[in-house]
Amino acid sequence: MGTVRPVAYLLGFGGYAPERVITNDDWAEWVDTSDEWITQRTGIKQRRFAADDESTMTLAADAAAVALKDADLTPDDIDEIVVATDTPEMMTPDTAALVQDRLGCRHVPTYDLGGSGCAGFVQAIDVAGSRIAVEPKRILVVGVELISRMISMKDRATAVLFGDGAGAVVMGPDEGRAEVLGVVSGTDGSAAEILTLAAGGTRNPFNEKSLLSGDYNRLVMDGRKVFTEAVRRMSEAAGDVLSKVGRSLNDVKLVIPHQANKRIIEAVRKKMGLSEEAVYVNVDRFGNTGSATVPYAMFEAVRDERINEGDLVVLTAFGAGFHWSAAAVQF
Ligand SMILES: CC(C)(COP(=O)(O)OP(=O)(O)OC[C@H]1O[C@@H](n2cnc3c(N)ncnc32)[C@H](O)[C@@H]1OP(=O)(O)O)[C@@H](O)C(=O)NCCC(=O)NCCS
Repeated sequence: MGTVRPVAYLLGFGGYAPERVITNDDWAEWVDTSDEWITQRTGIKQRRFAADDESTMTLAADAAAVALKDADLTPDDIDEIVVATDTPEMMTPDTAALVQDRLGCRHVPTYDLGGSGCAGFVQAIDVAGSRIAVEPKRILVVGVELISRMISMKDRATAVLFGDGAGAVVMGPDEGRAEVLGVVSGTDGSAAEILTLAAGGTRNPFNEKSLLSGDYNRLVMDGRKVFTEAVRRMSEAAGDVLSKVGRSLNDVKLVIPHQANKRIIEAVRKKMGLSEEAVYVNVDRFGNTGSATVPYAMFEAVRDERINEGDLVVLTAFGAGFHWSAAAVQF
């Protein structure tokens, strides 16, 4: 294998978490569940829900504004915007177009990366990196989810797992705070039916029938299969990206896995033979915020100096599809 060409640089980090905190005890008042069940099965203690006057676009724009400030850039400096989300503001147009307008960017190209579930942000890093390789430009990459408005709040088996939030980075061709050394991504479409939110698509369009049947917001998930695949794919993808860039686990300071569930993270940690300090966890405070978990966790880890200059960090994510994606990032 020849020398691996770096993908691009990360110039700034941002995150936004809505103020409203929902505890497990809150959930126990709404559905037949308990703090004990949720904590034991998932490690989640609380999550954030967006306020009525917030939307996917505002969450994304708030996180993006923090990333721009962190990068010491203005909206004028952005040449392209990609928003990874499975809970977009509307079916059409893309949430990224709305973010462009909200931030006051130039009329640069925008697009959403949708349908990759919780792997969306790392996949977006992959796509944005290739775009930068073709033409040097600064790309705003956001992972955002407003899941509380999209799934059934009566379904205890899925609803208690999720929260709302956003994370963002600015990527560019110039030297920055961190270098994305390489990314690997994969998909197993044969597993598509194991985790679906069909609402609003052509299979299950919003109409009188779907509203009356209650099918309009049903997240269908085989939790156990998702669990097993998430552990396997996230650990394998992390190993694959390290091989791709010619580095080893011994060089890694921190692994930031998708924050779906503390037990999944623990299983990934053990499978990879990592110490507790080497794996970032905030799922206890935010729940699963889909494509926002990885960028928000990276934002926190940089802000709180869990990541410092010289550190090699691995991002690894898994989501509906199934999709998986991992990135090696040298700070
Ligand atoms: C969802 C998950 C926490 C369930 O844990 P589990 O140990 O597999 O639990 P089970 O599915 O066997 O359910 C056990 C029981 O708890 C019940 N239960 C489900 N949700 C509950 C809740 N919120 N409170 C109390 N009981 C609940 C079930 O009805 C079931 O009852 P039964 O045995 O009487 O049928 C676990 O499978 C998981 O985390 N999977 C991955 C999900 C995920 O991360 N998805 C997003 C991927 S990106």
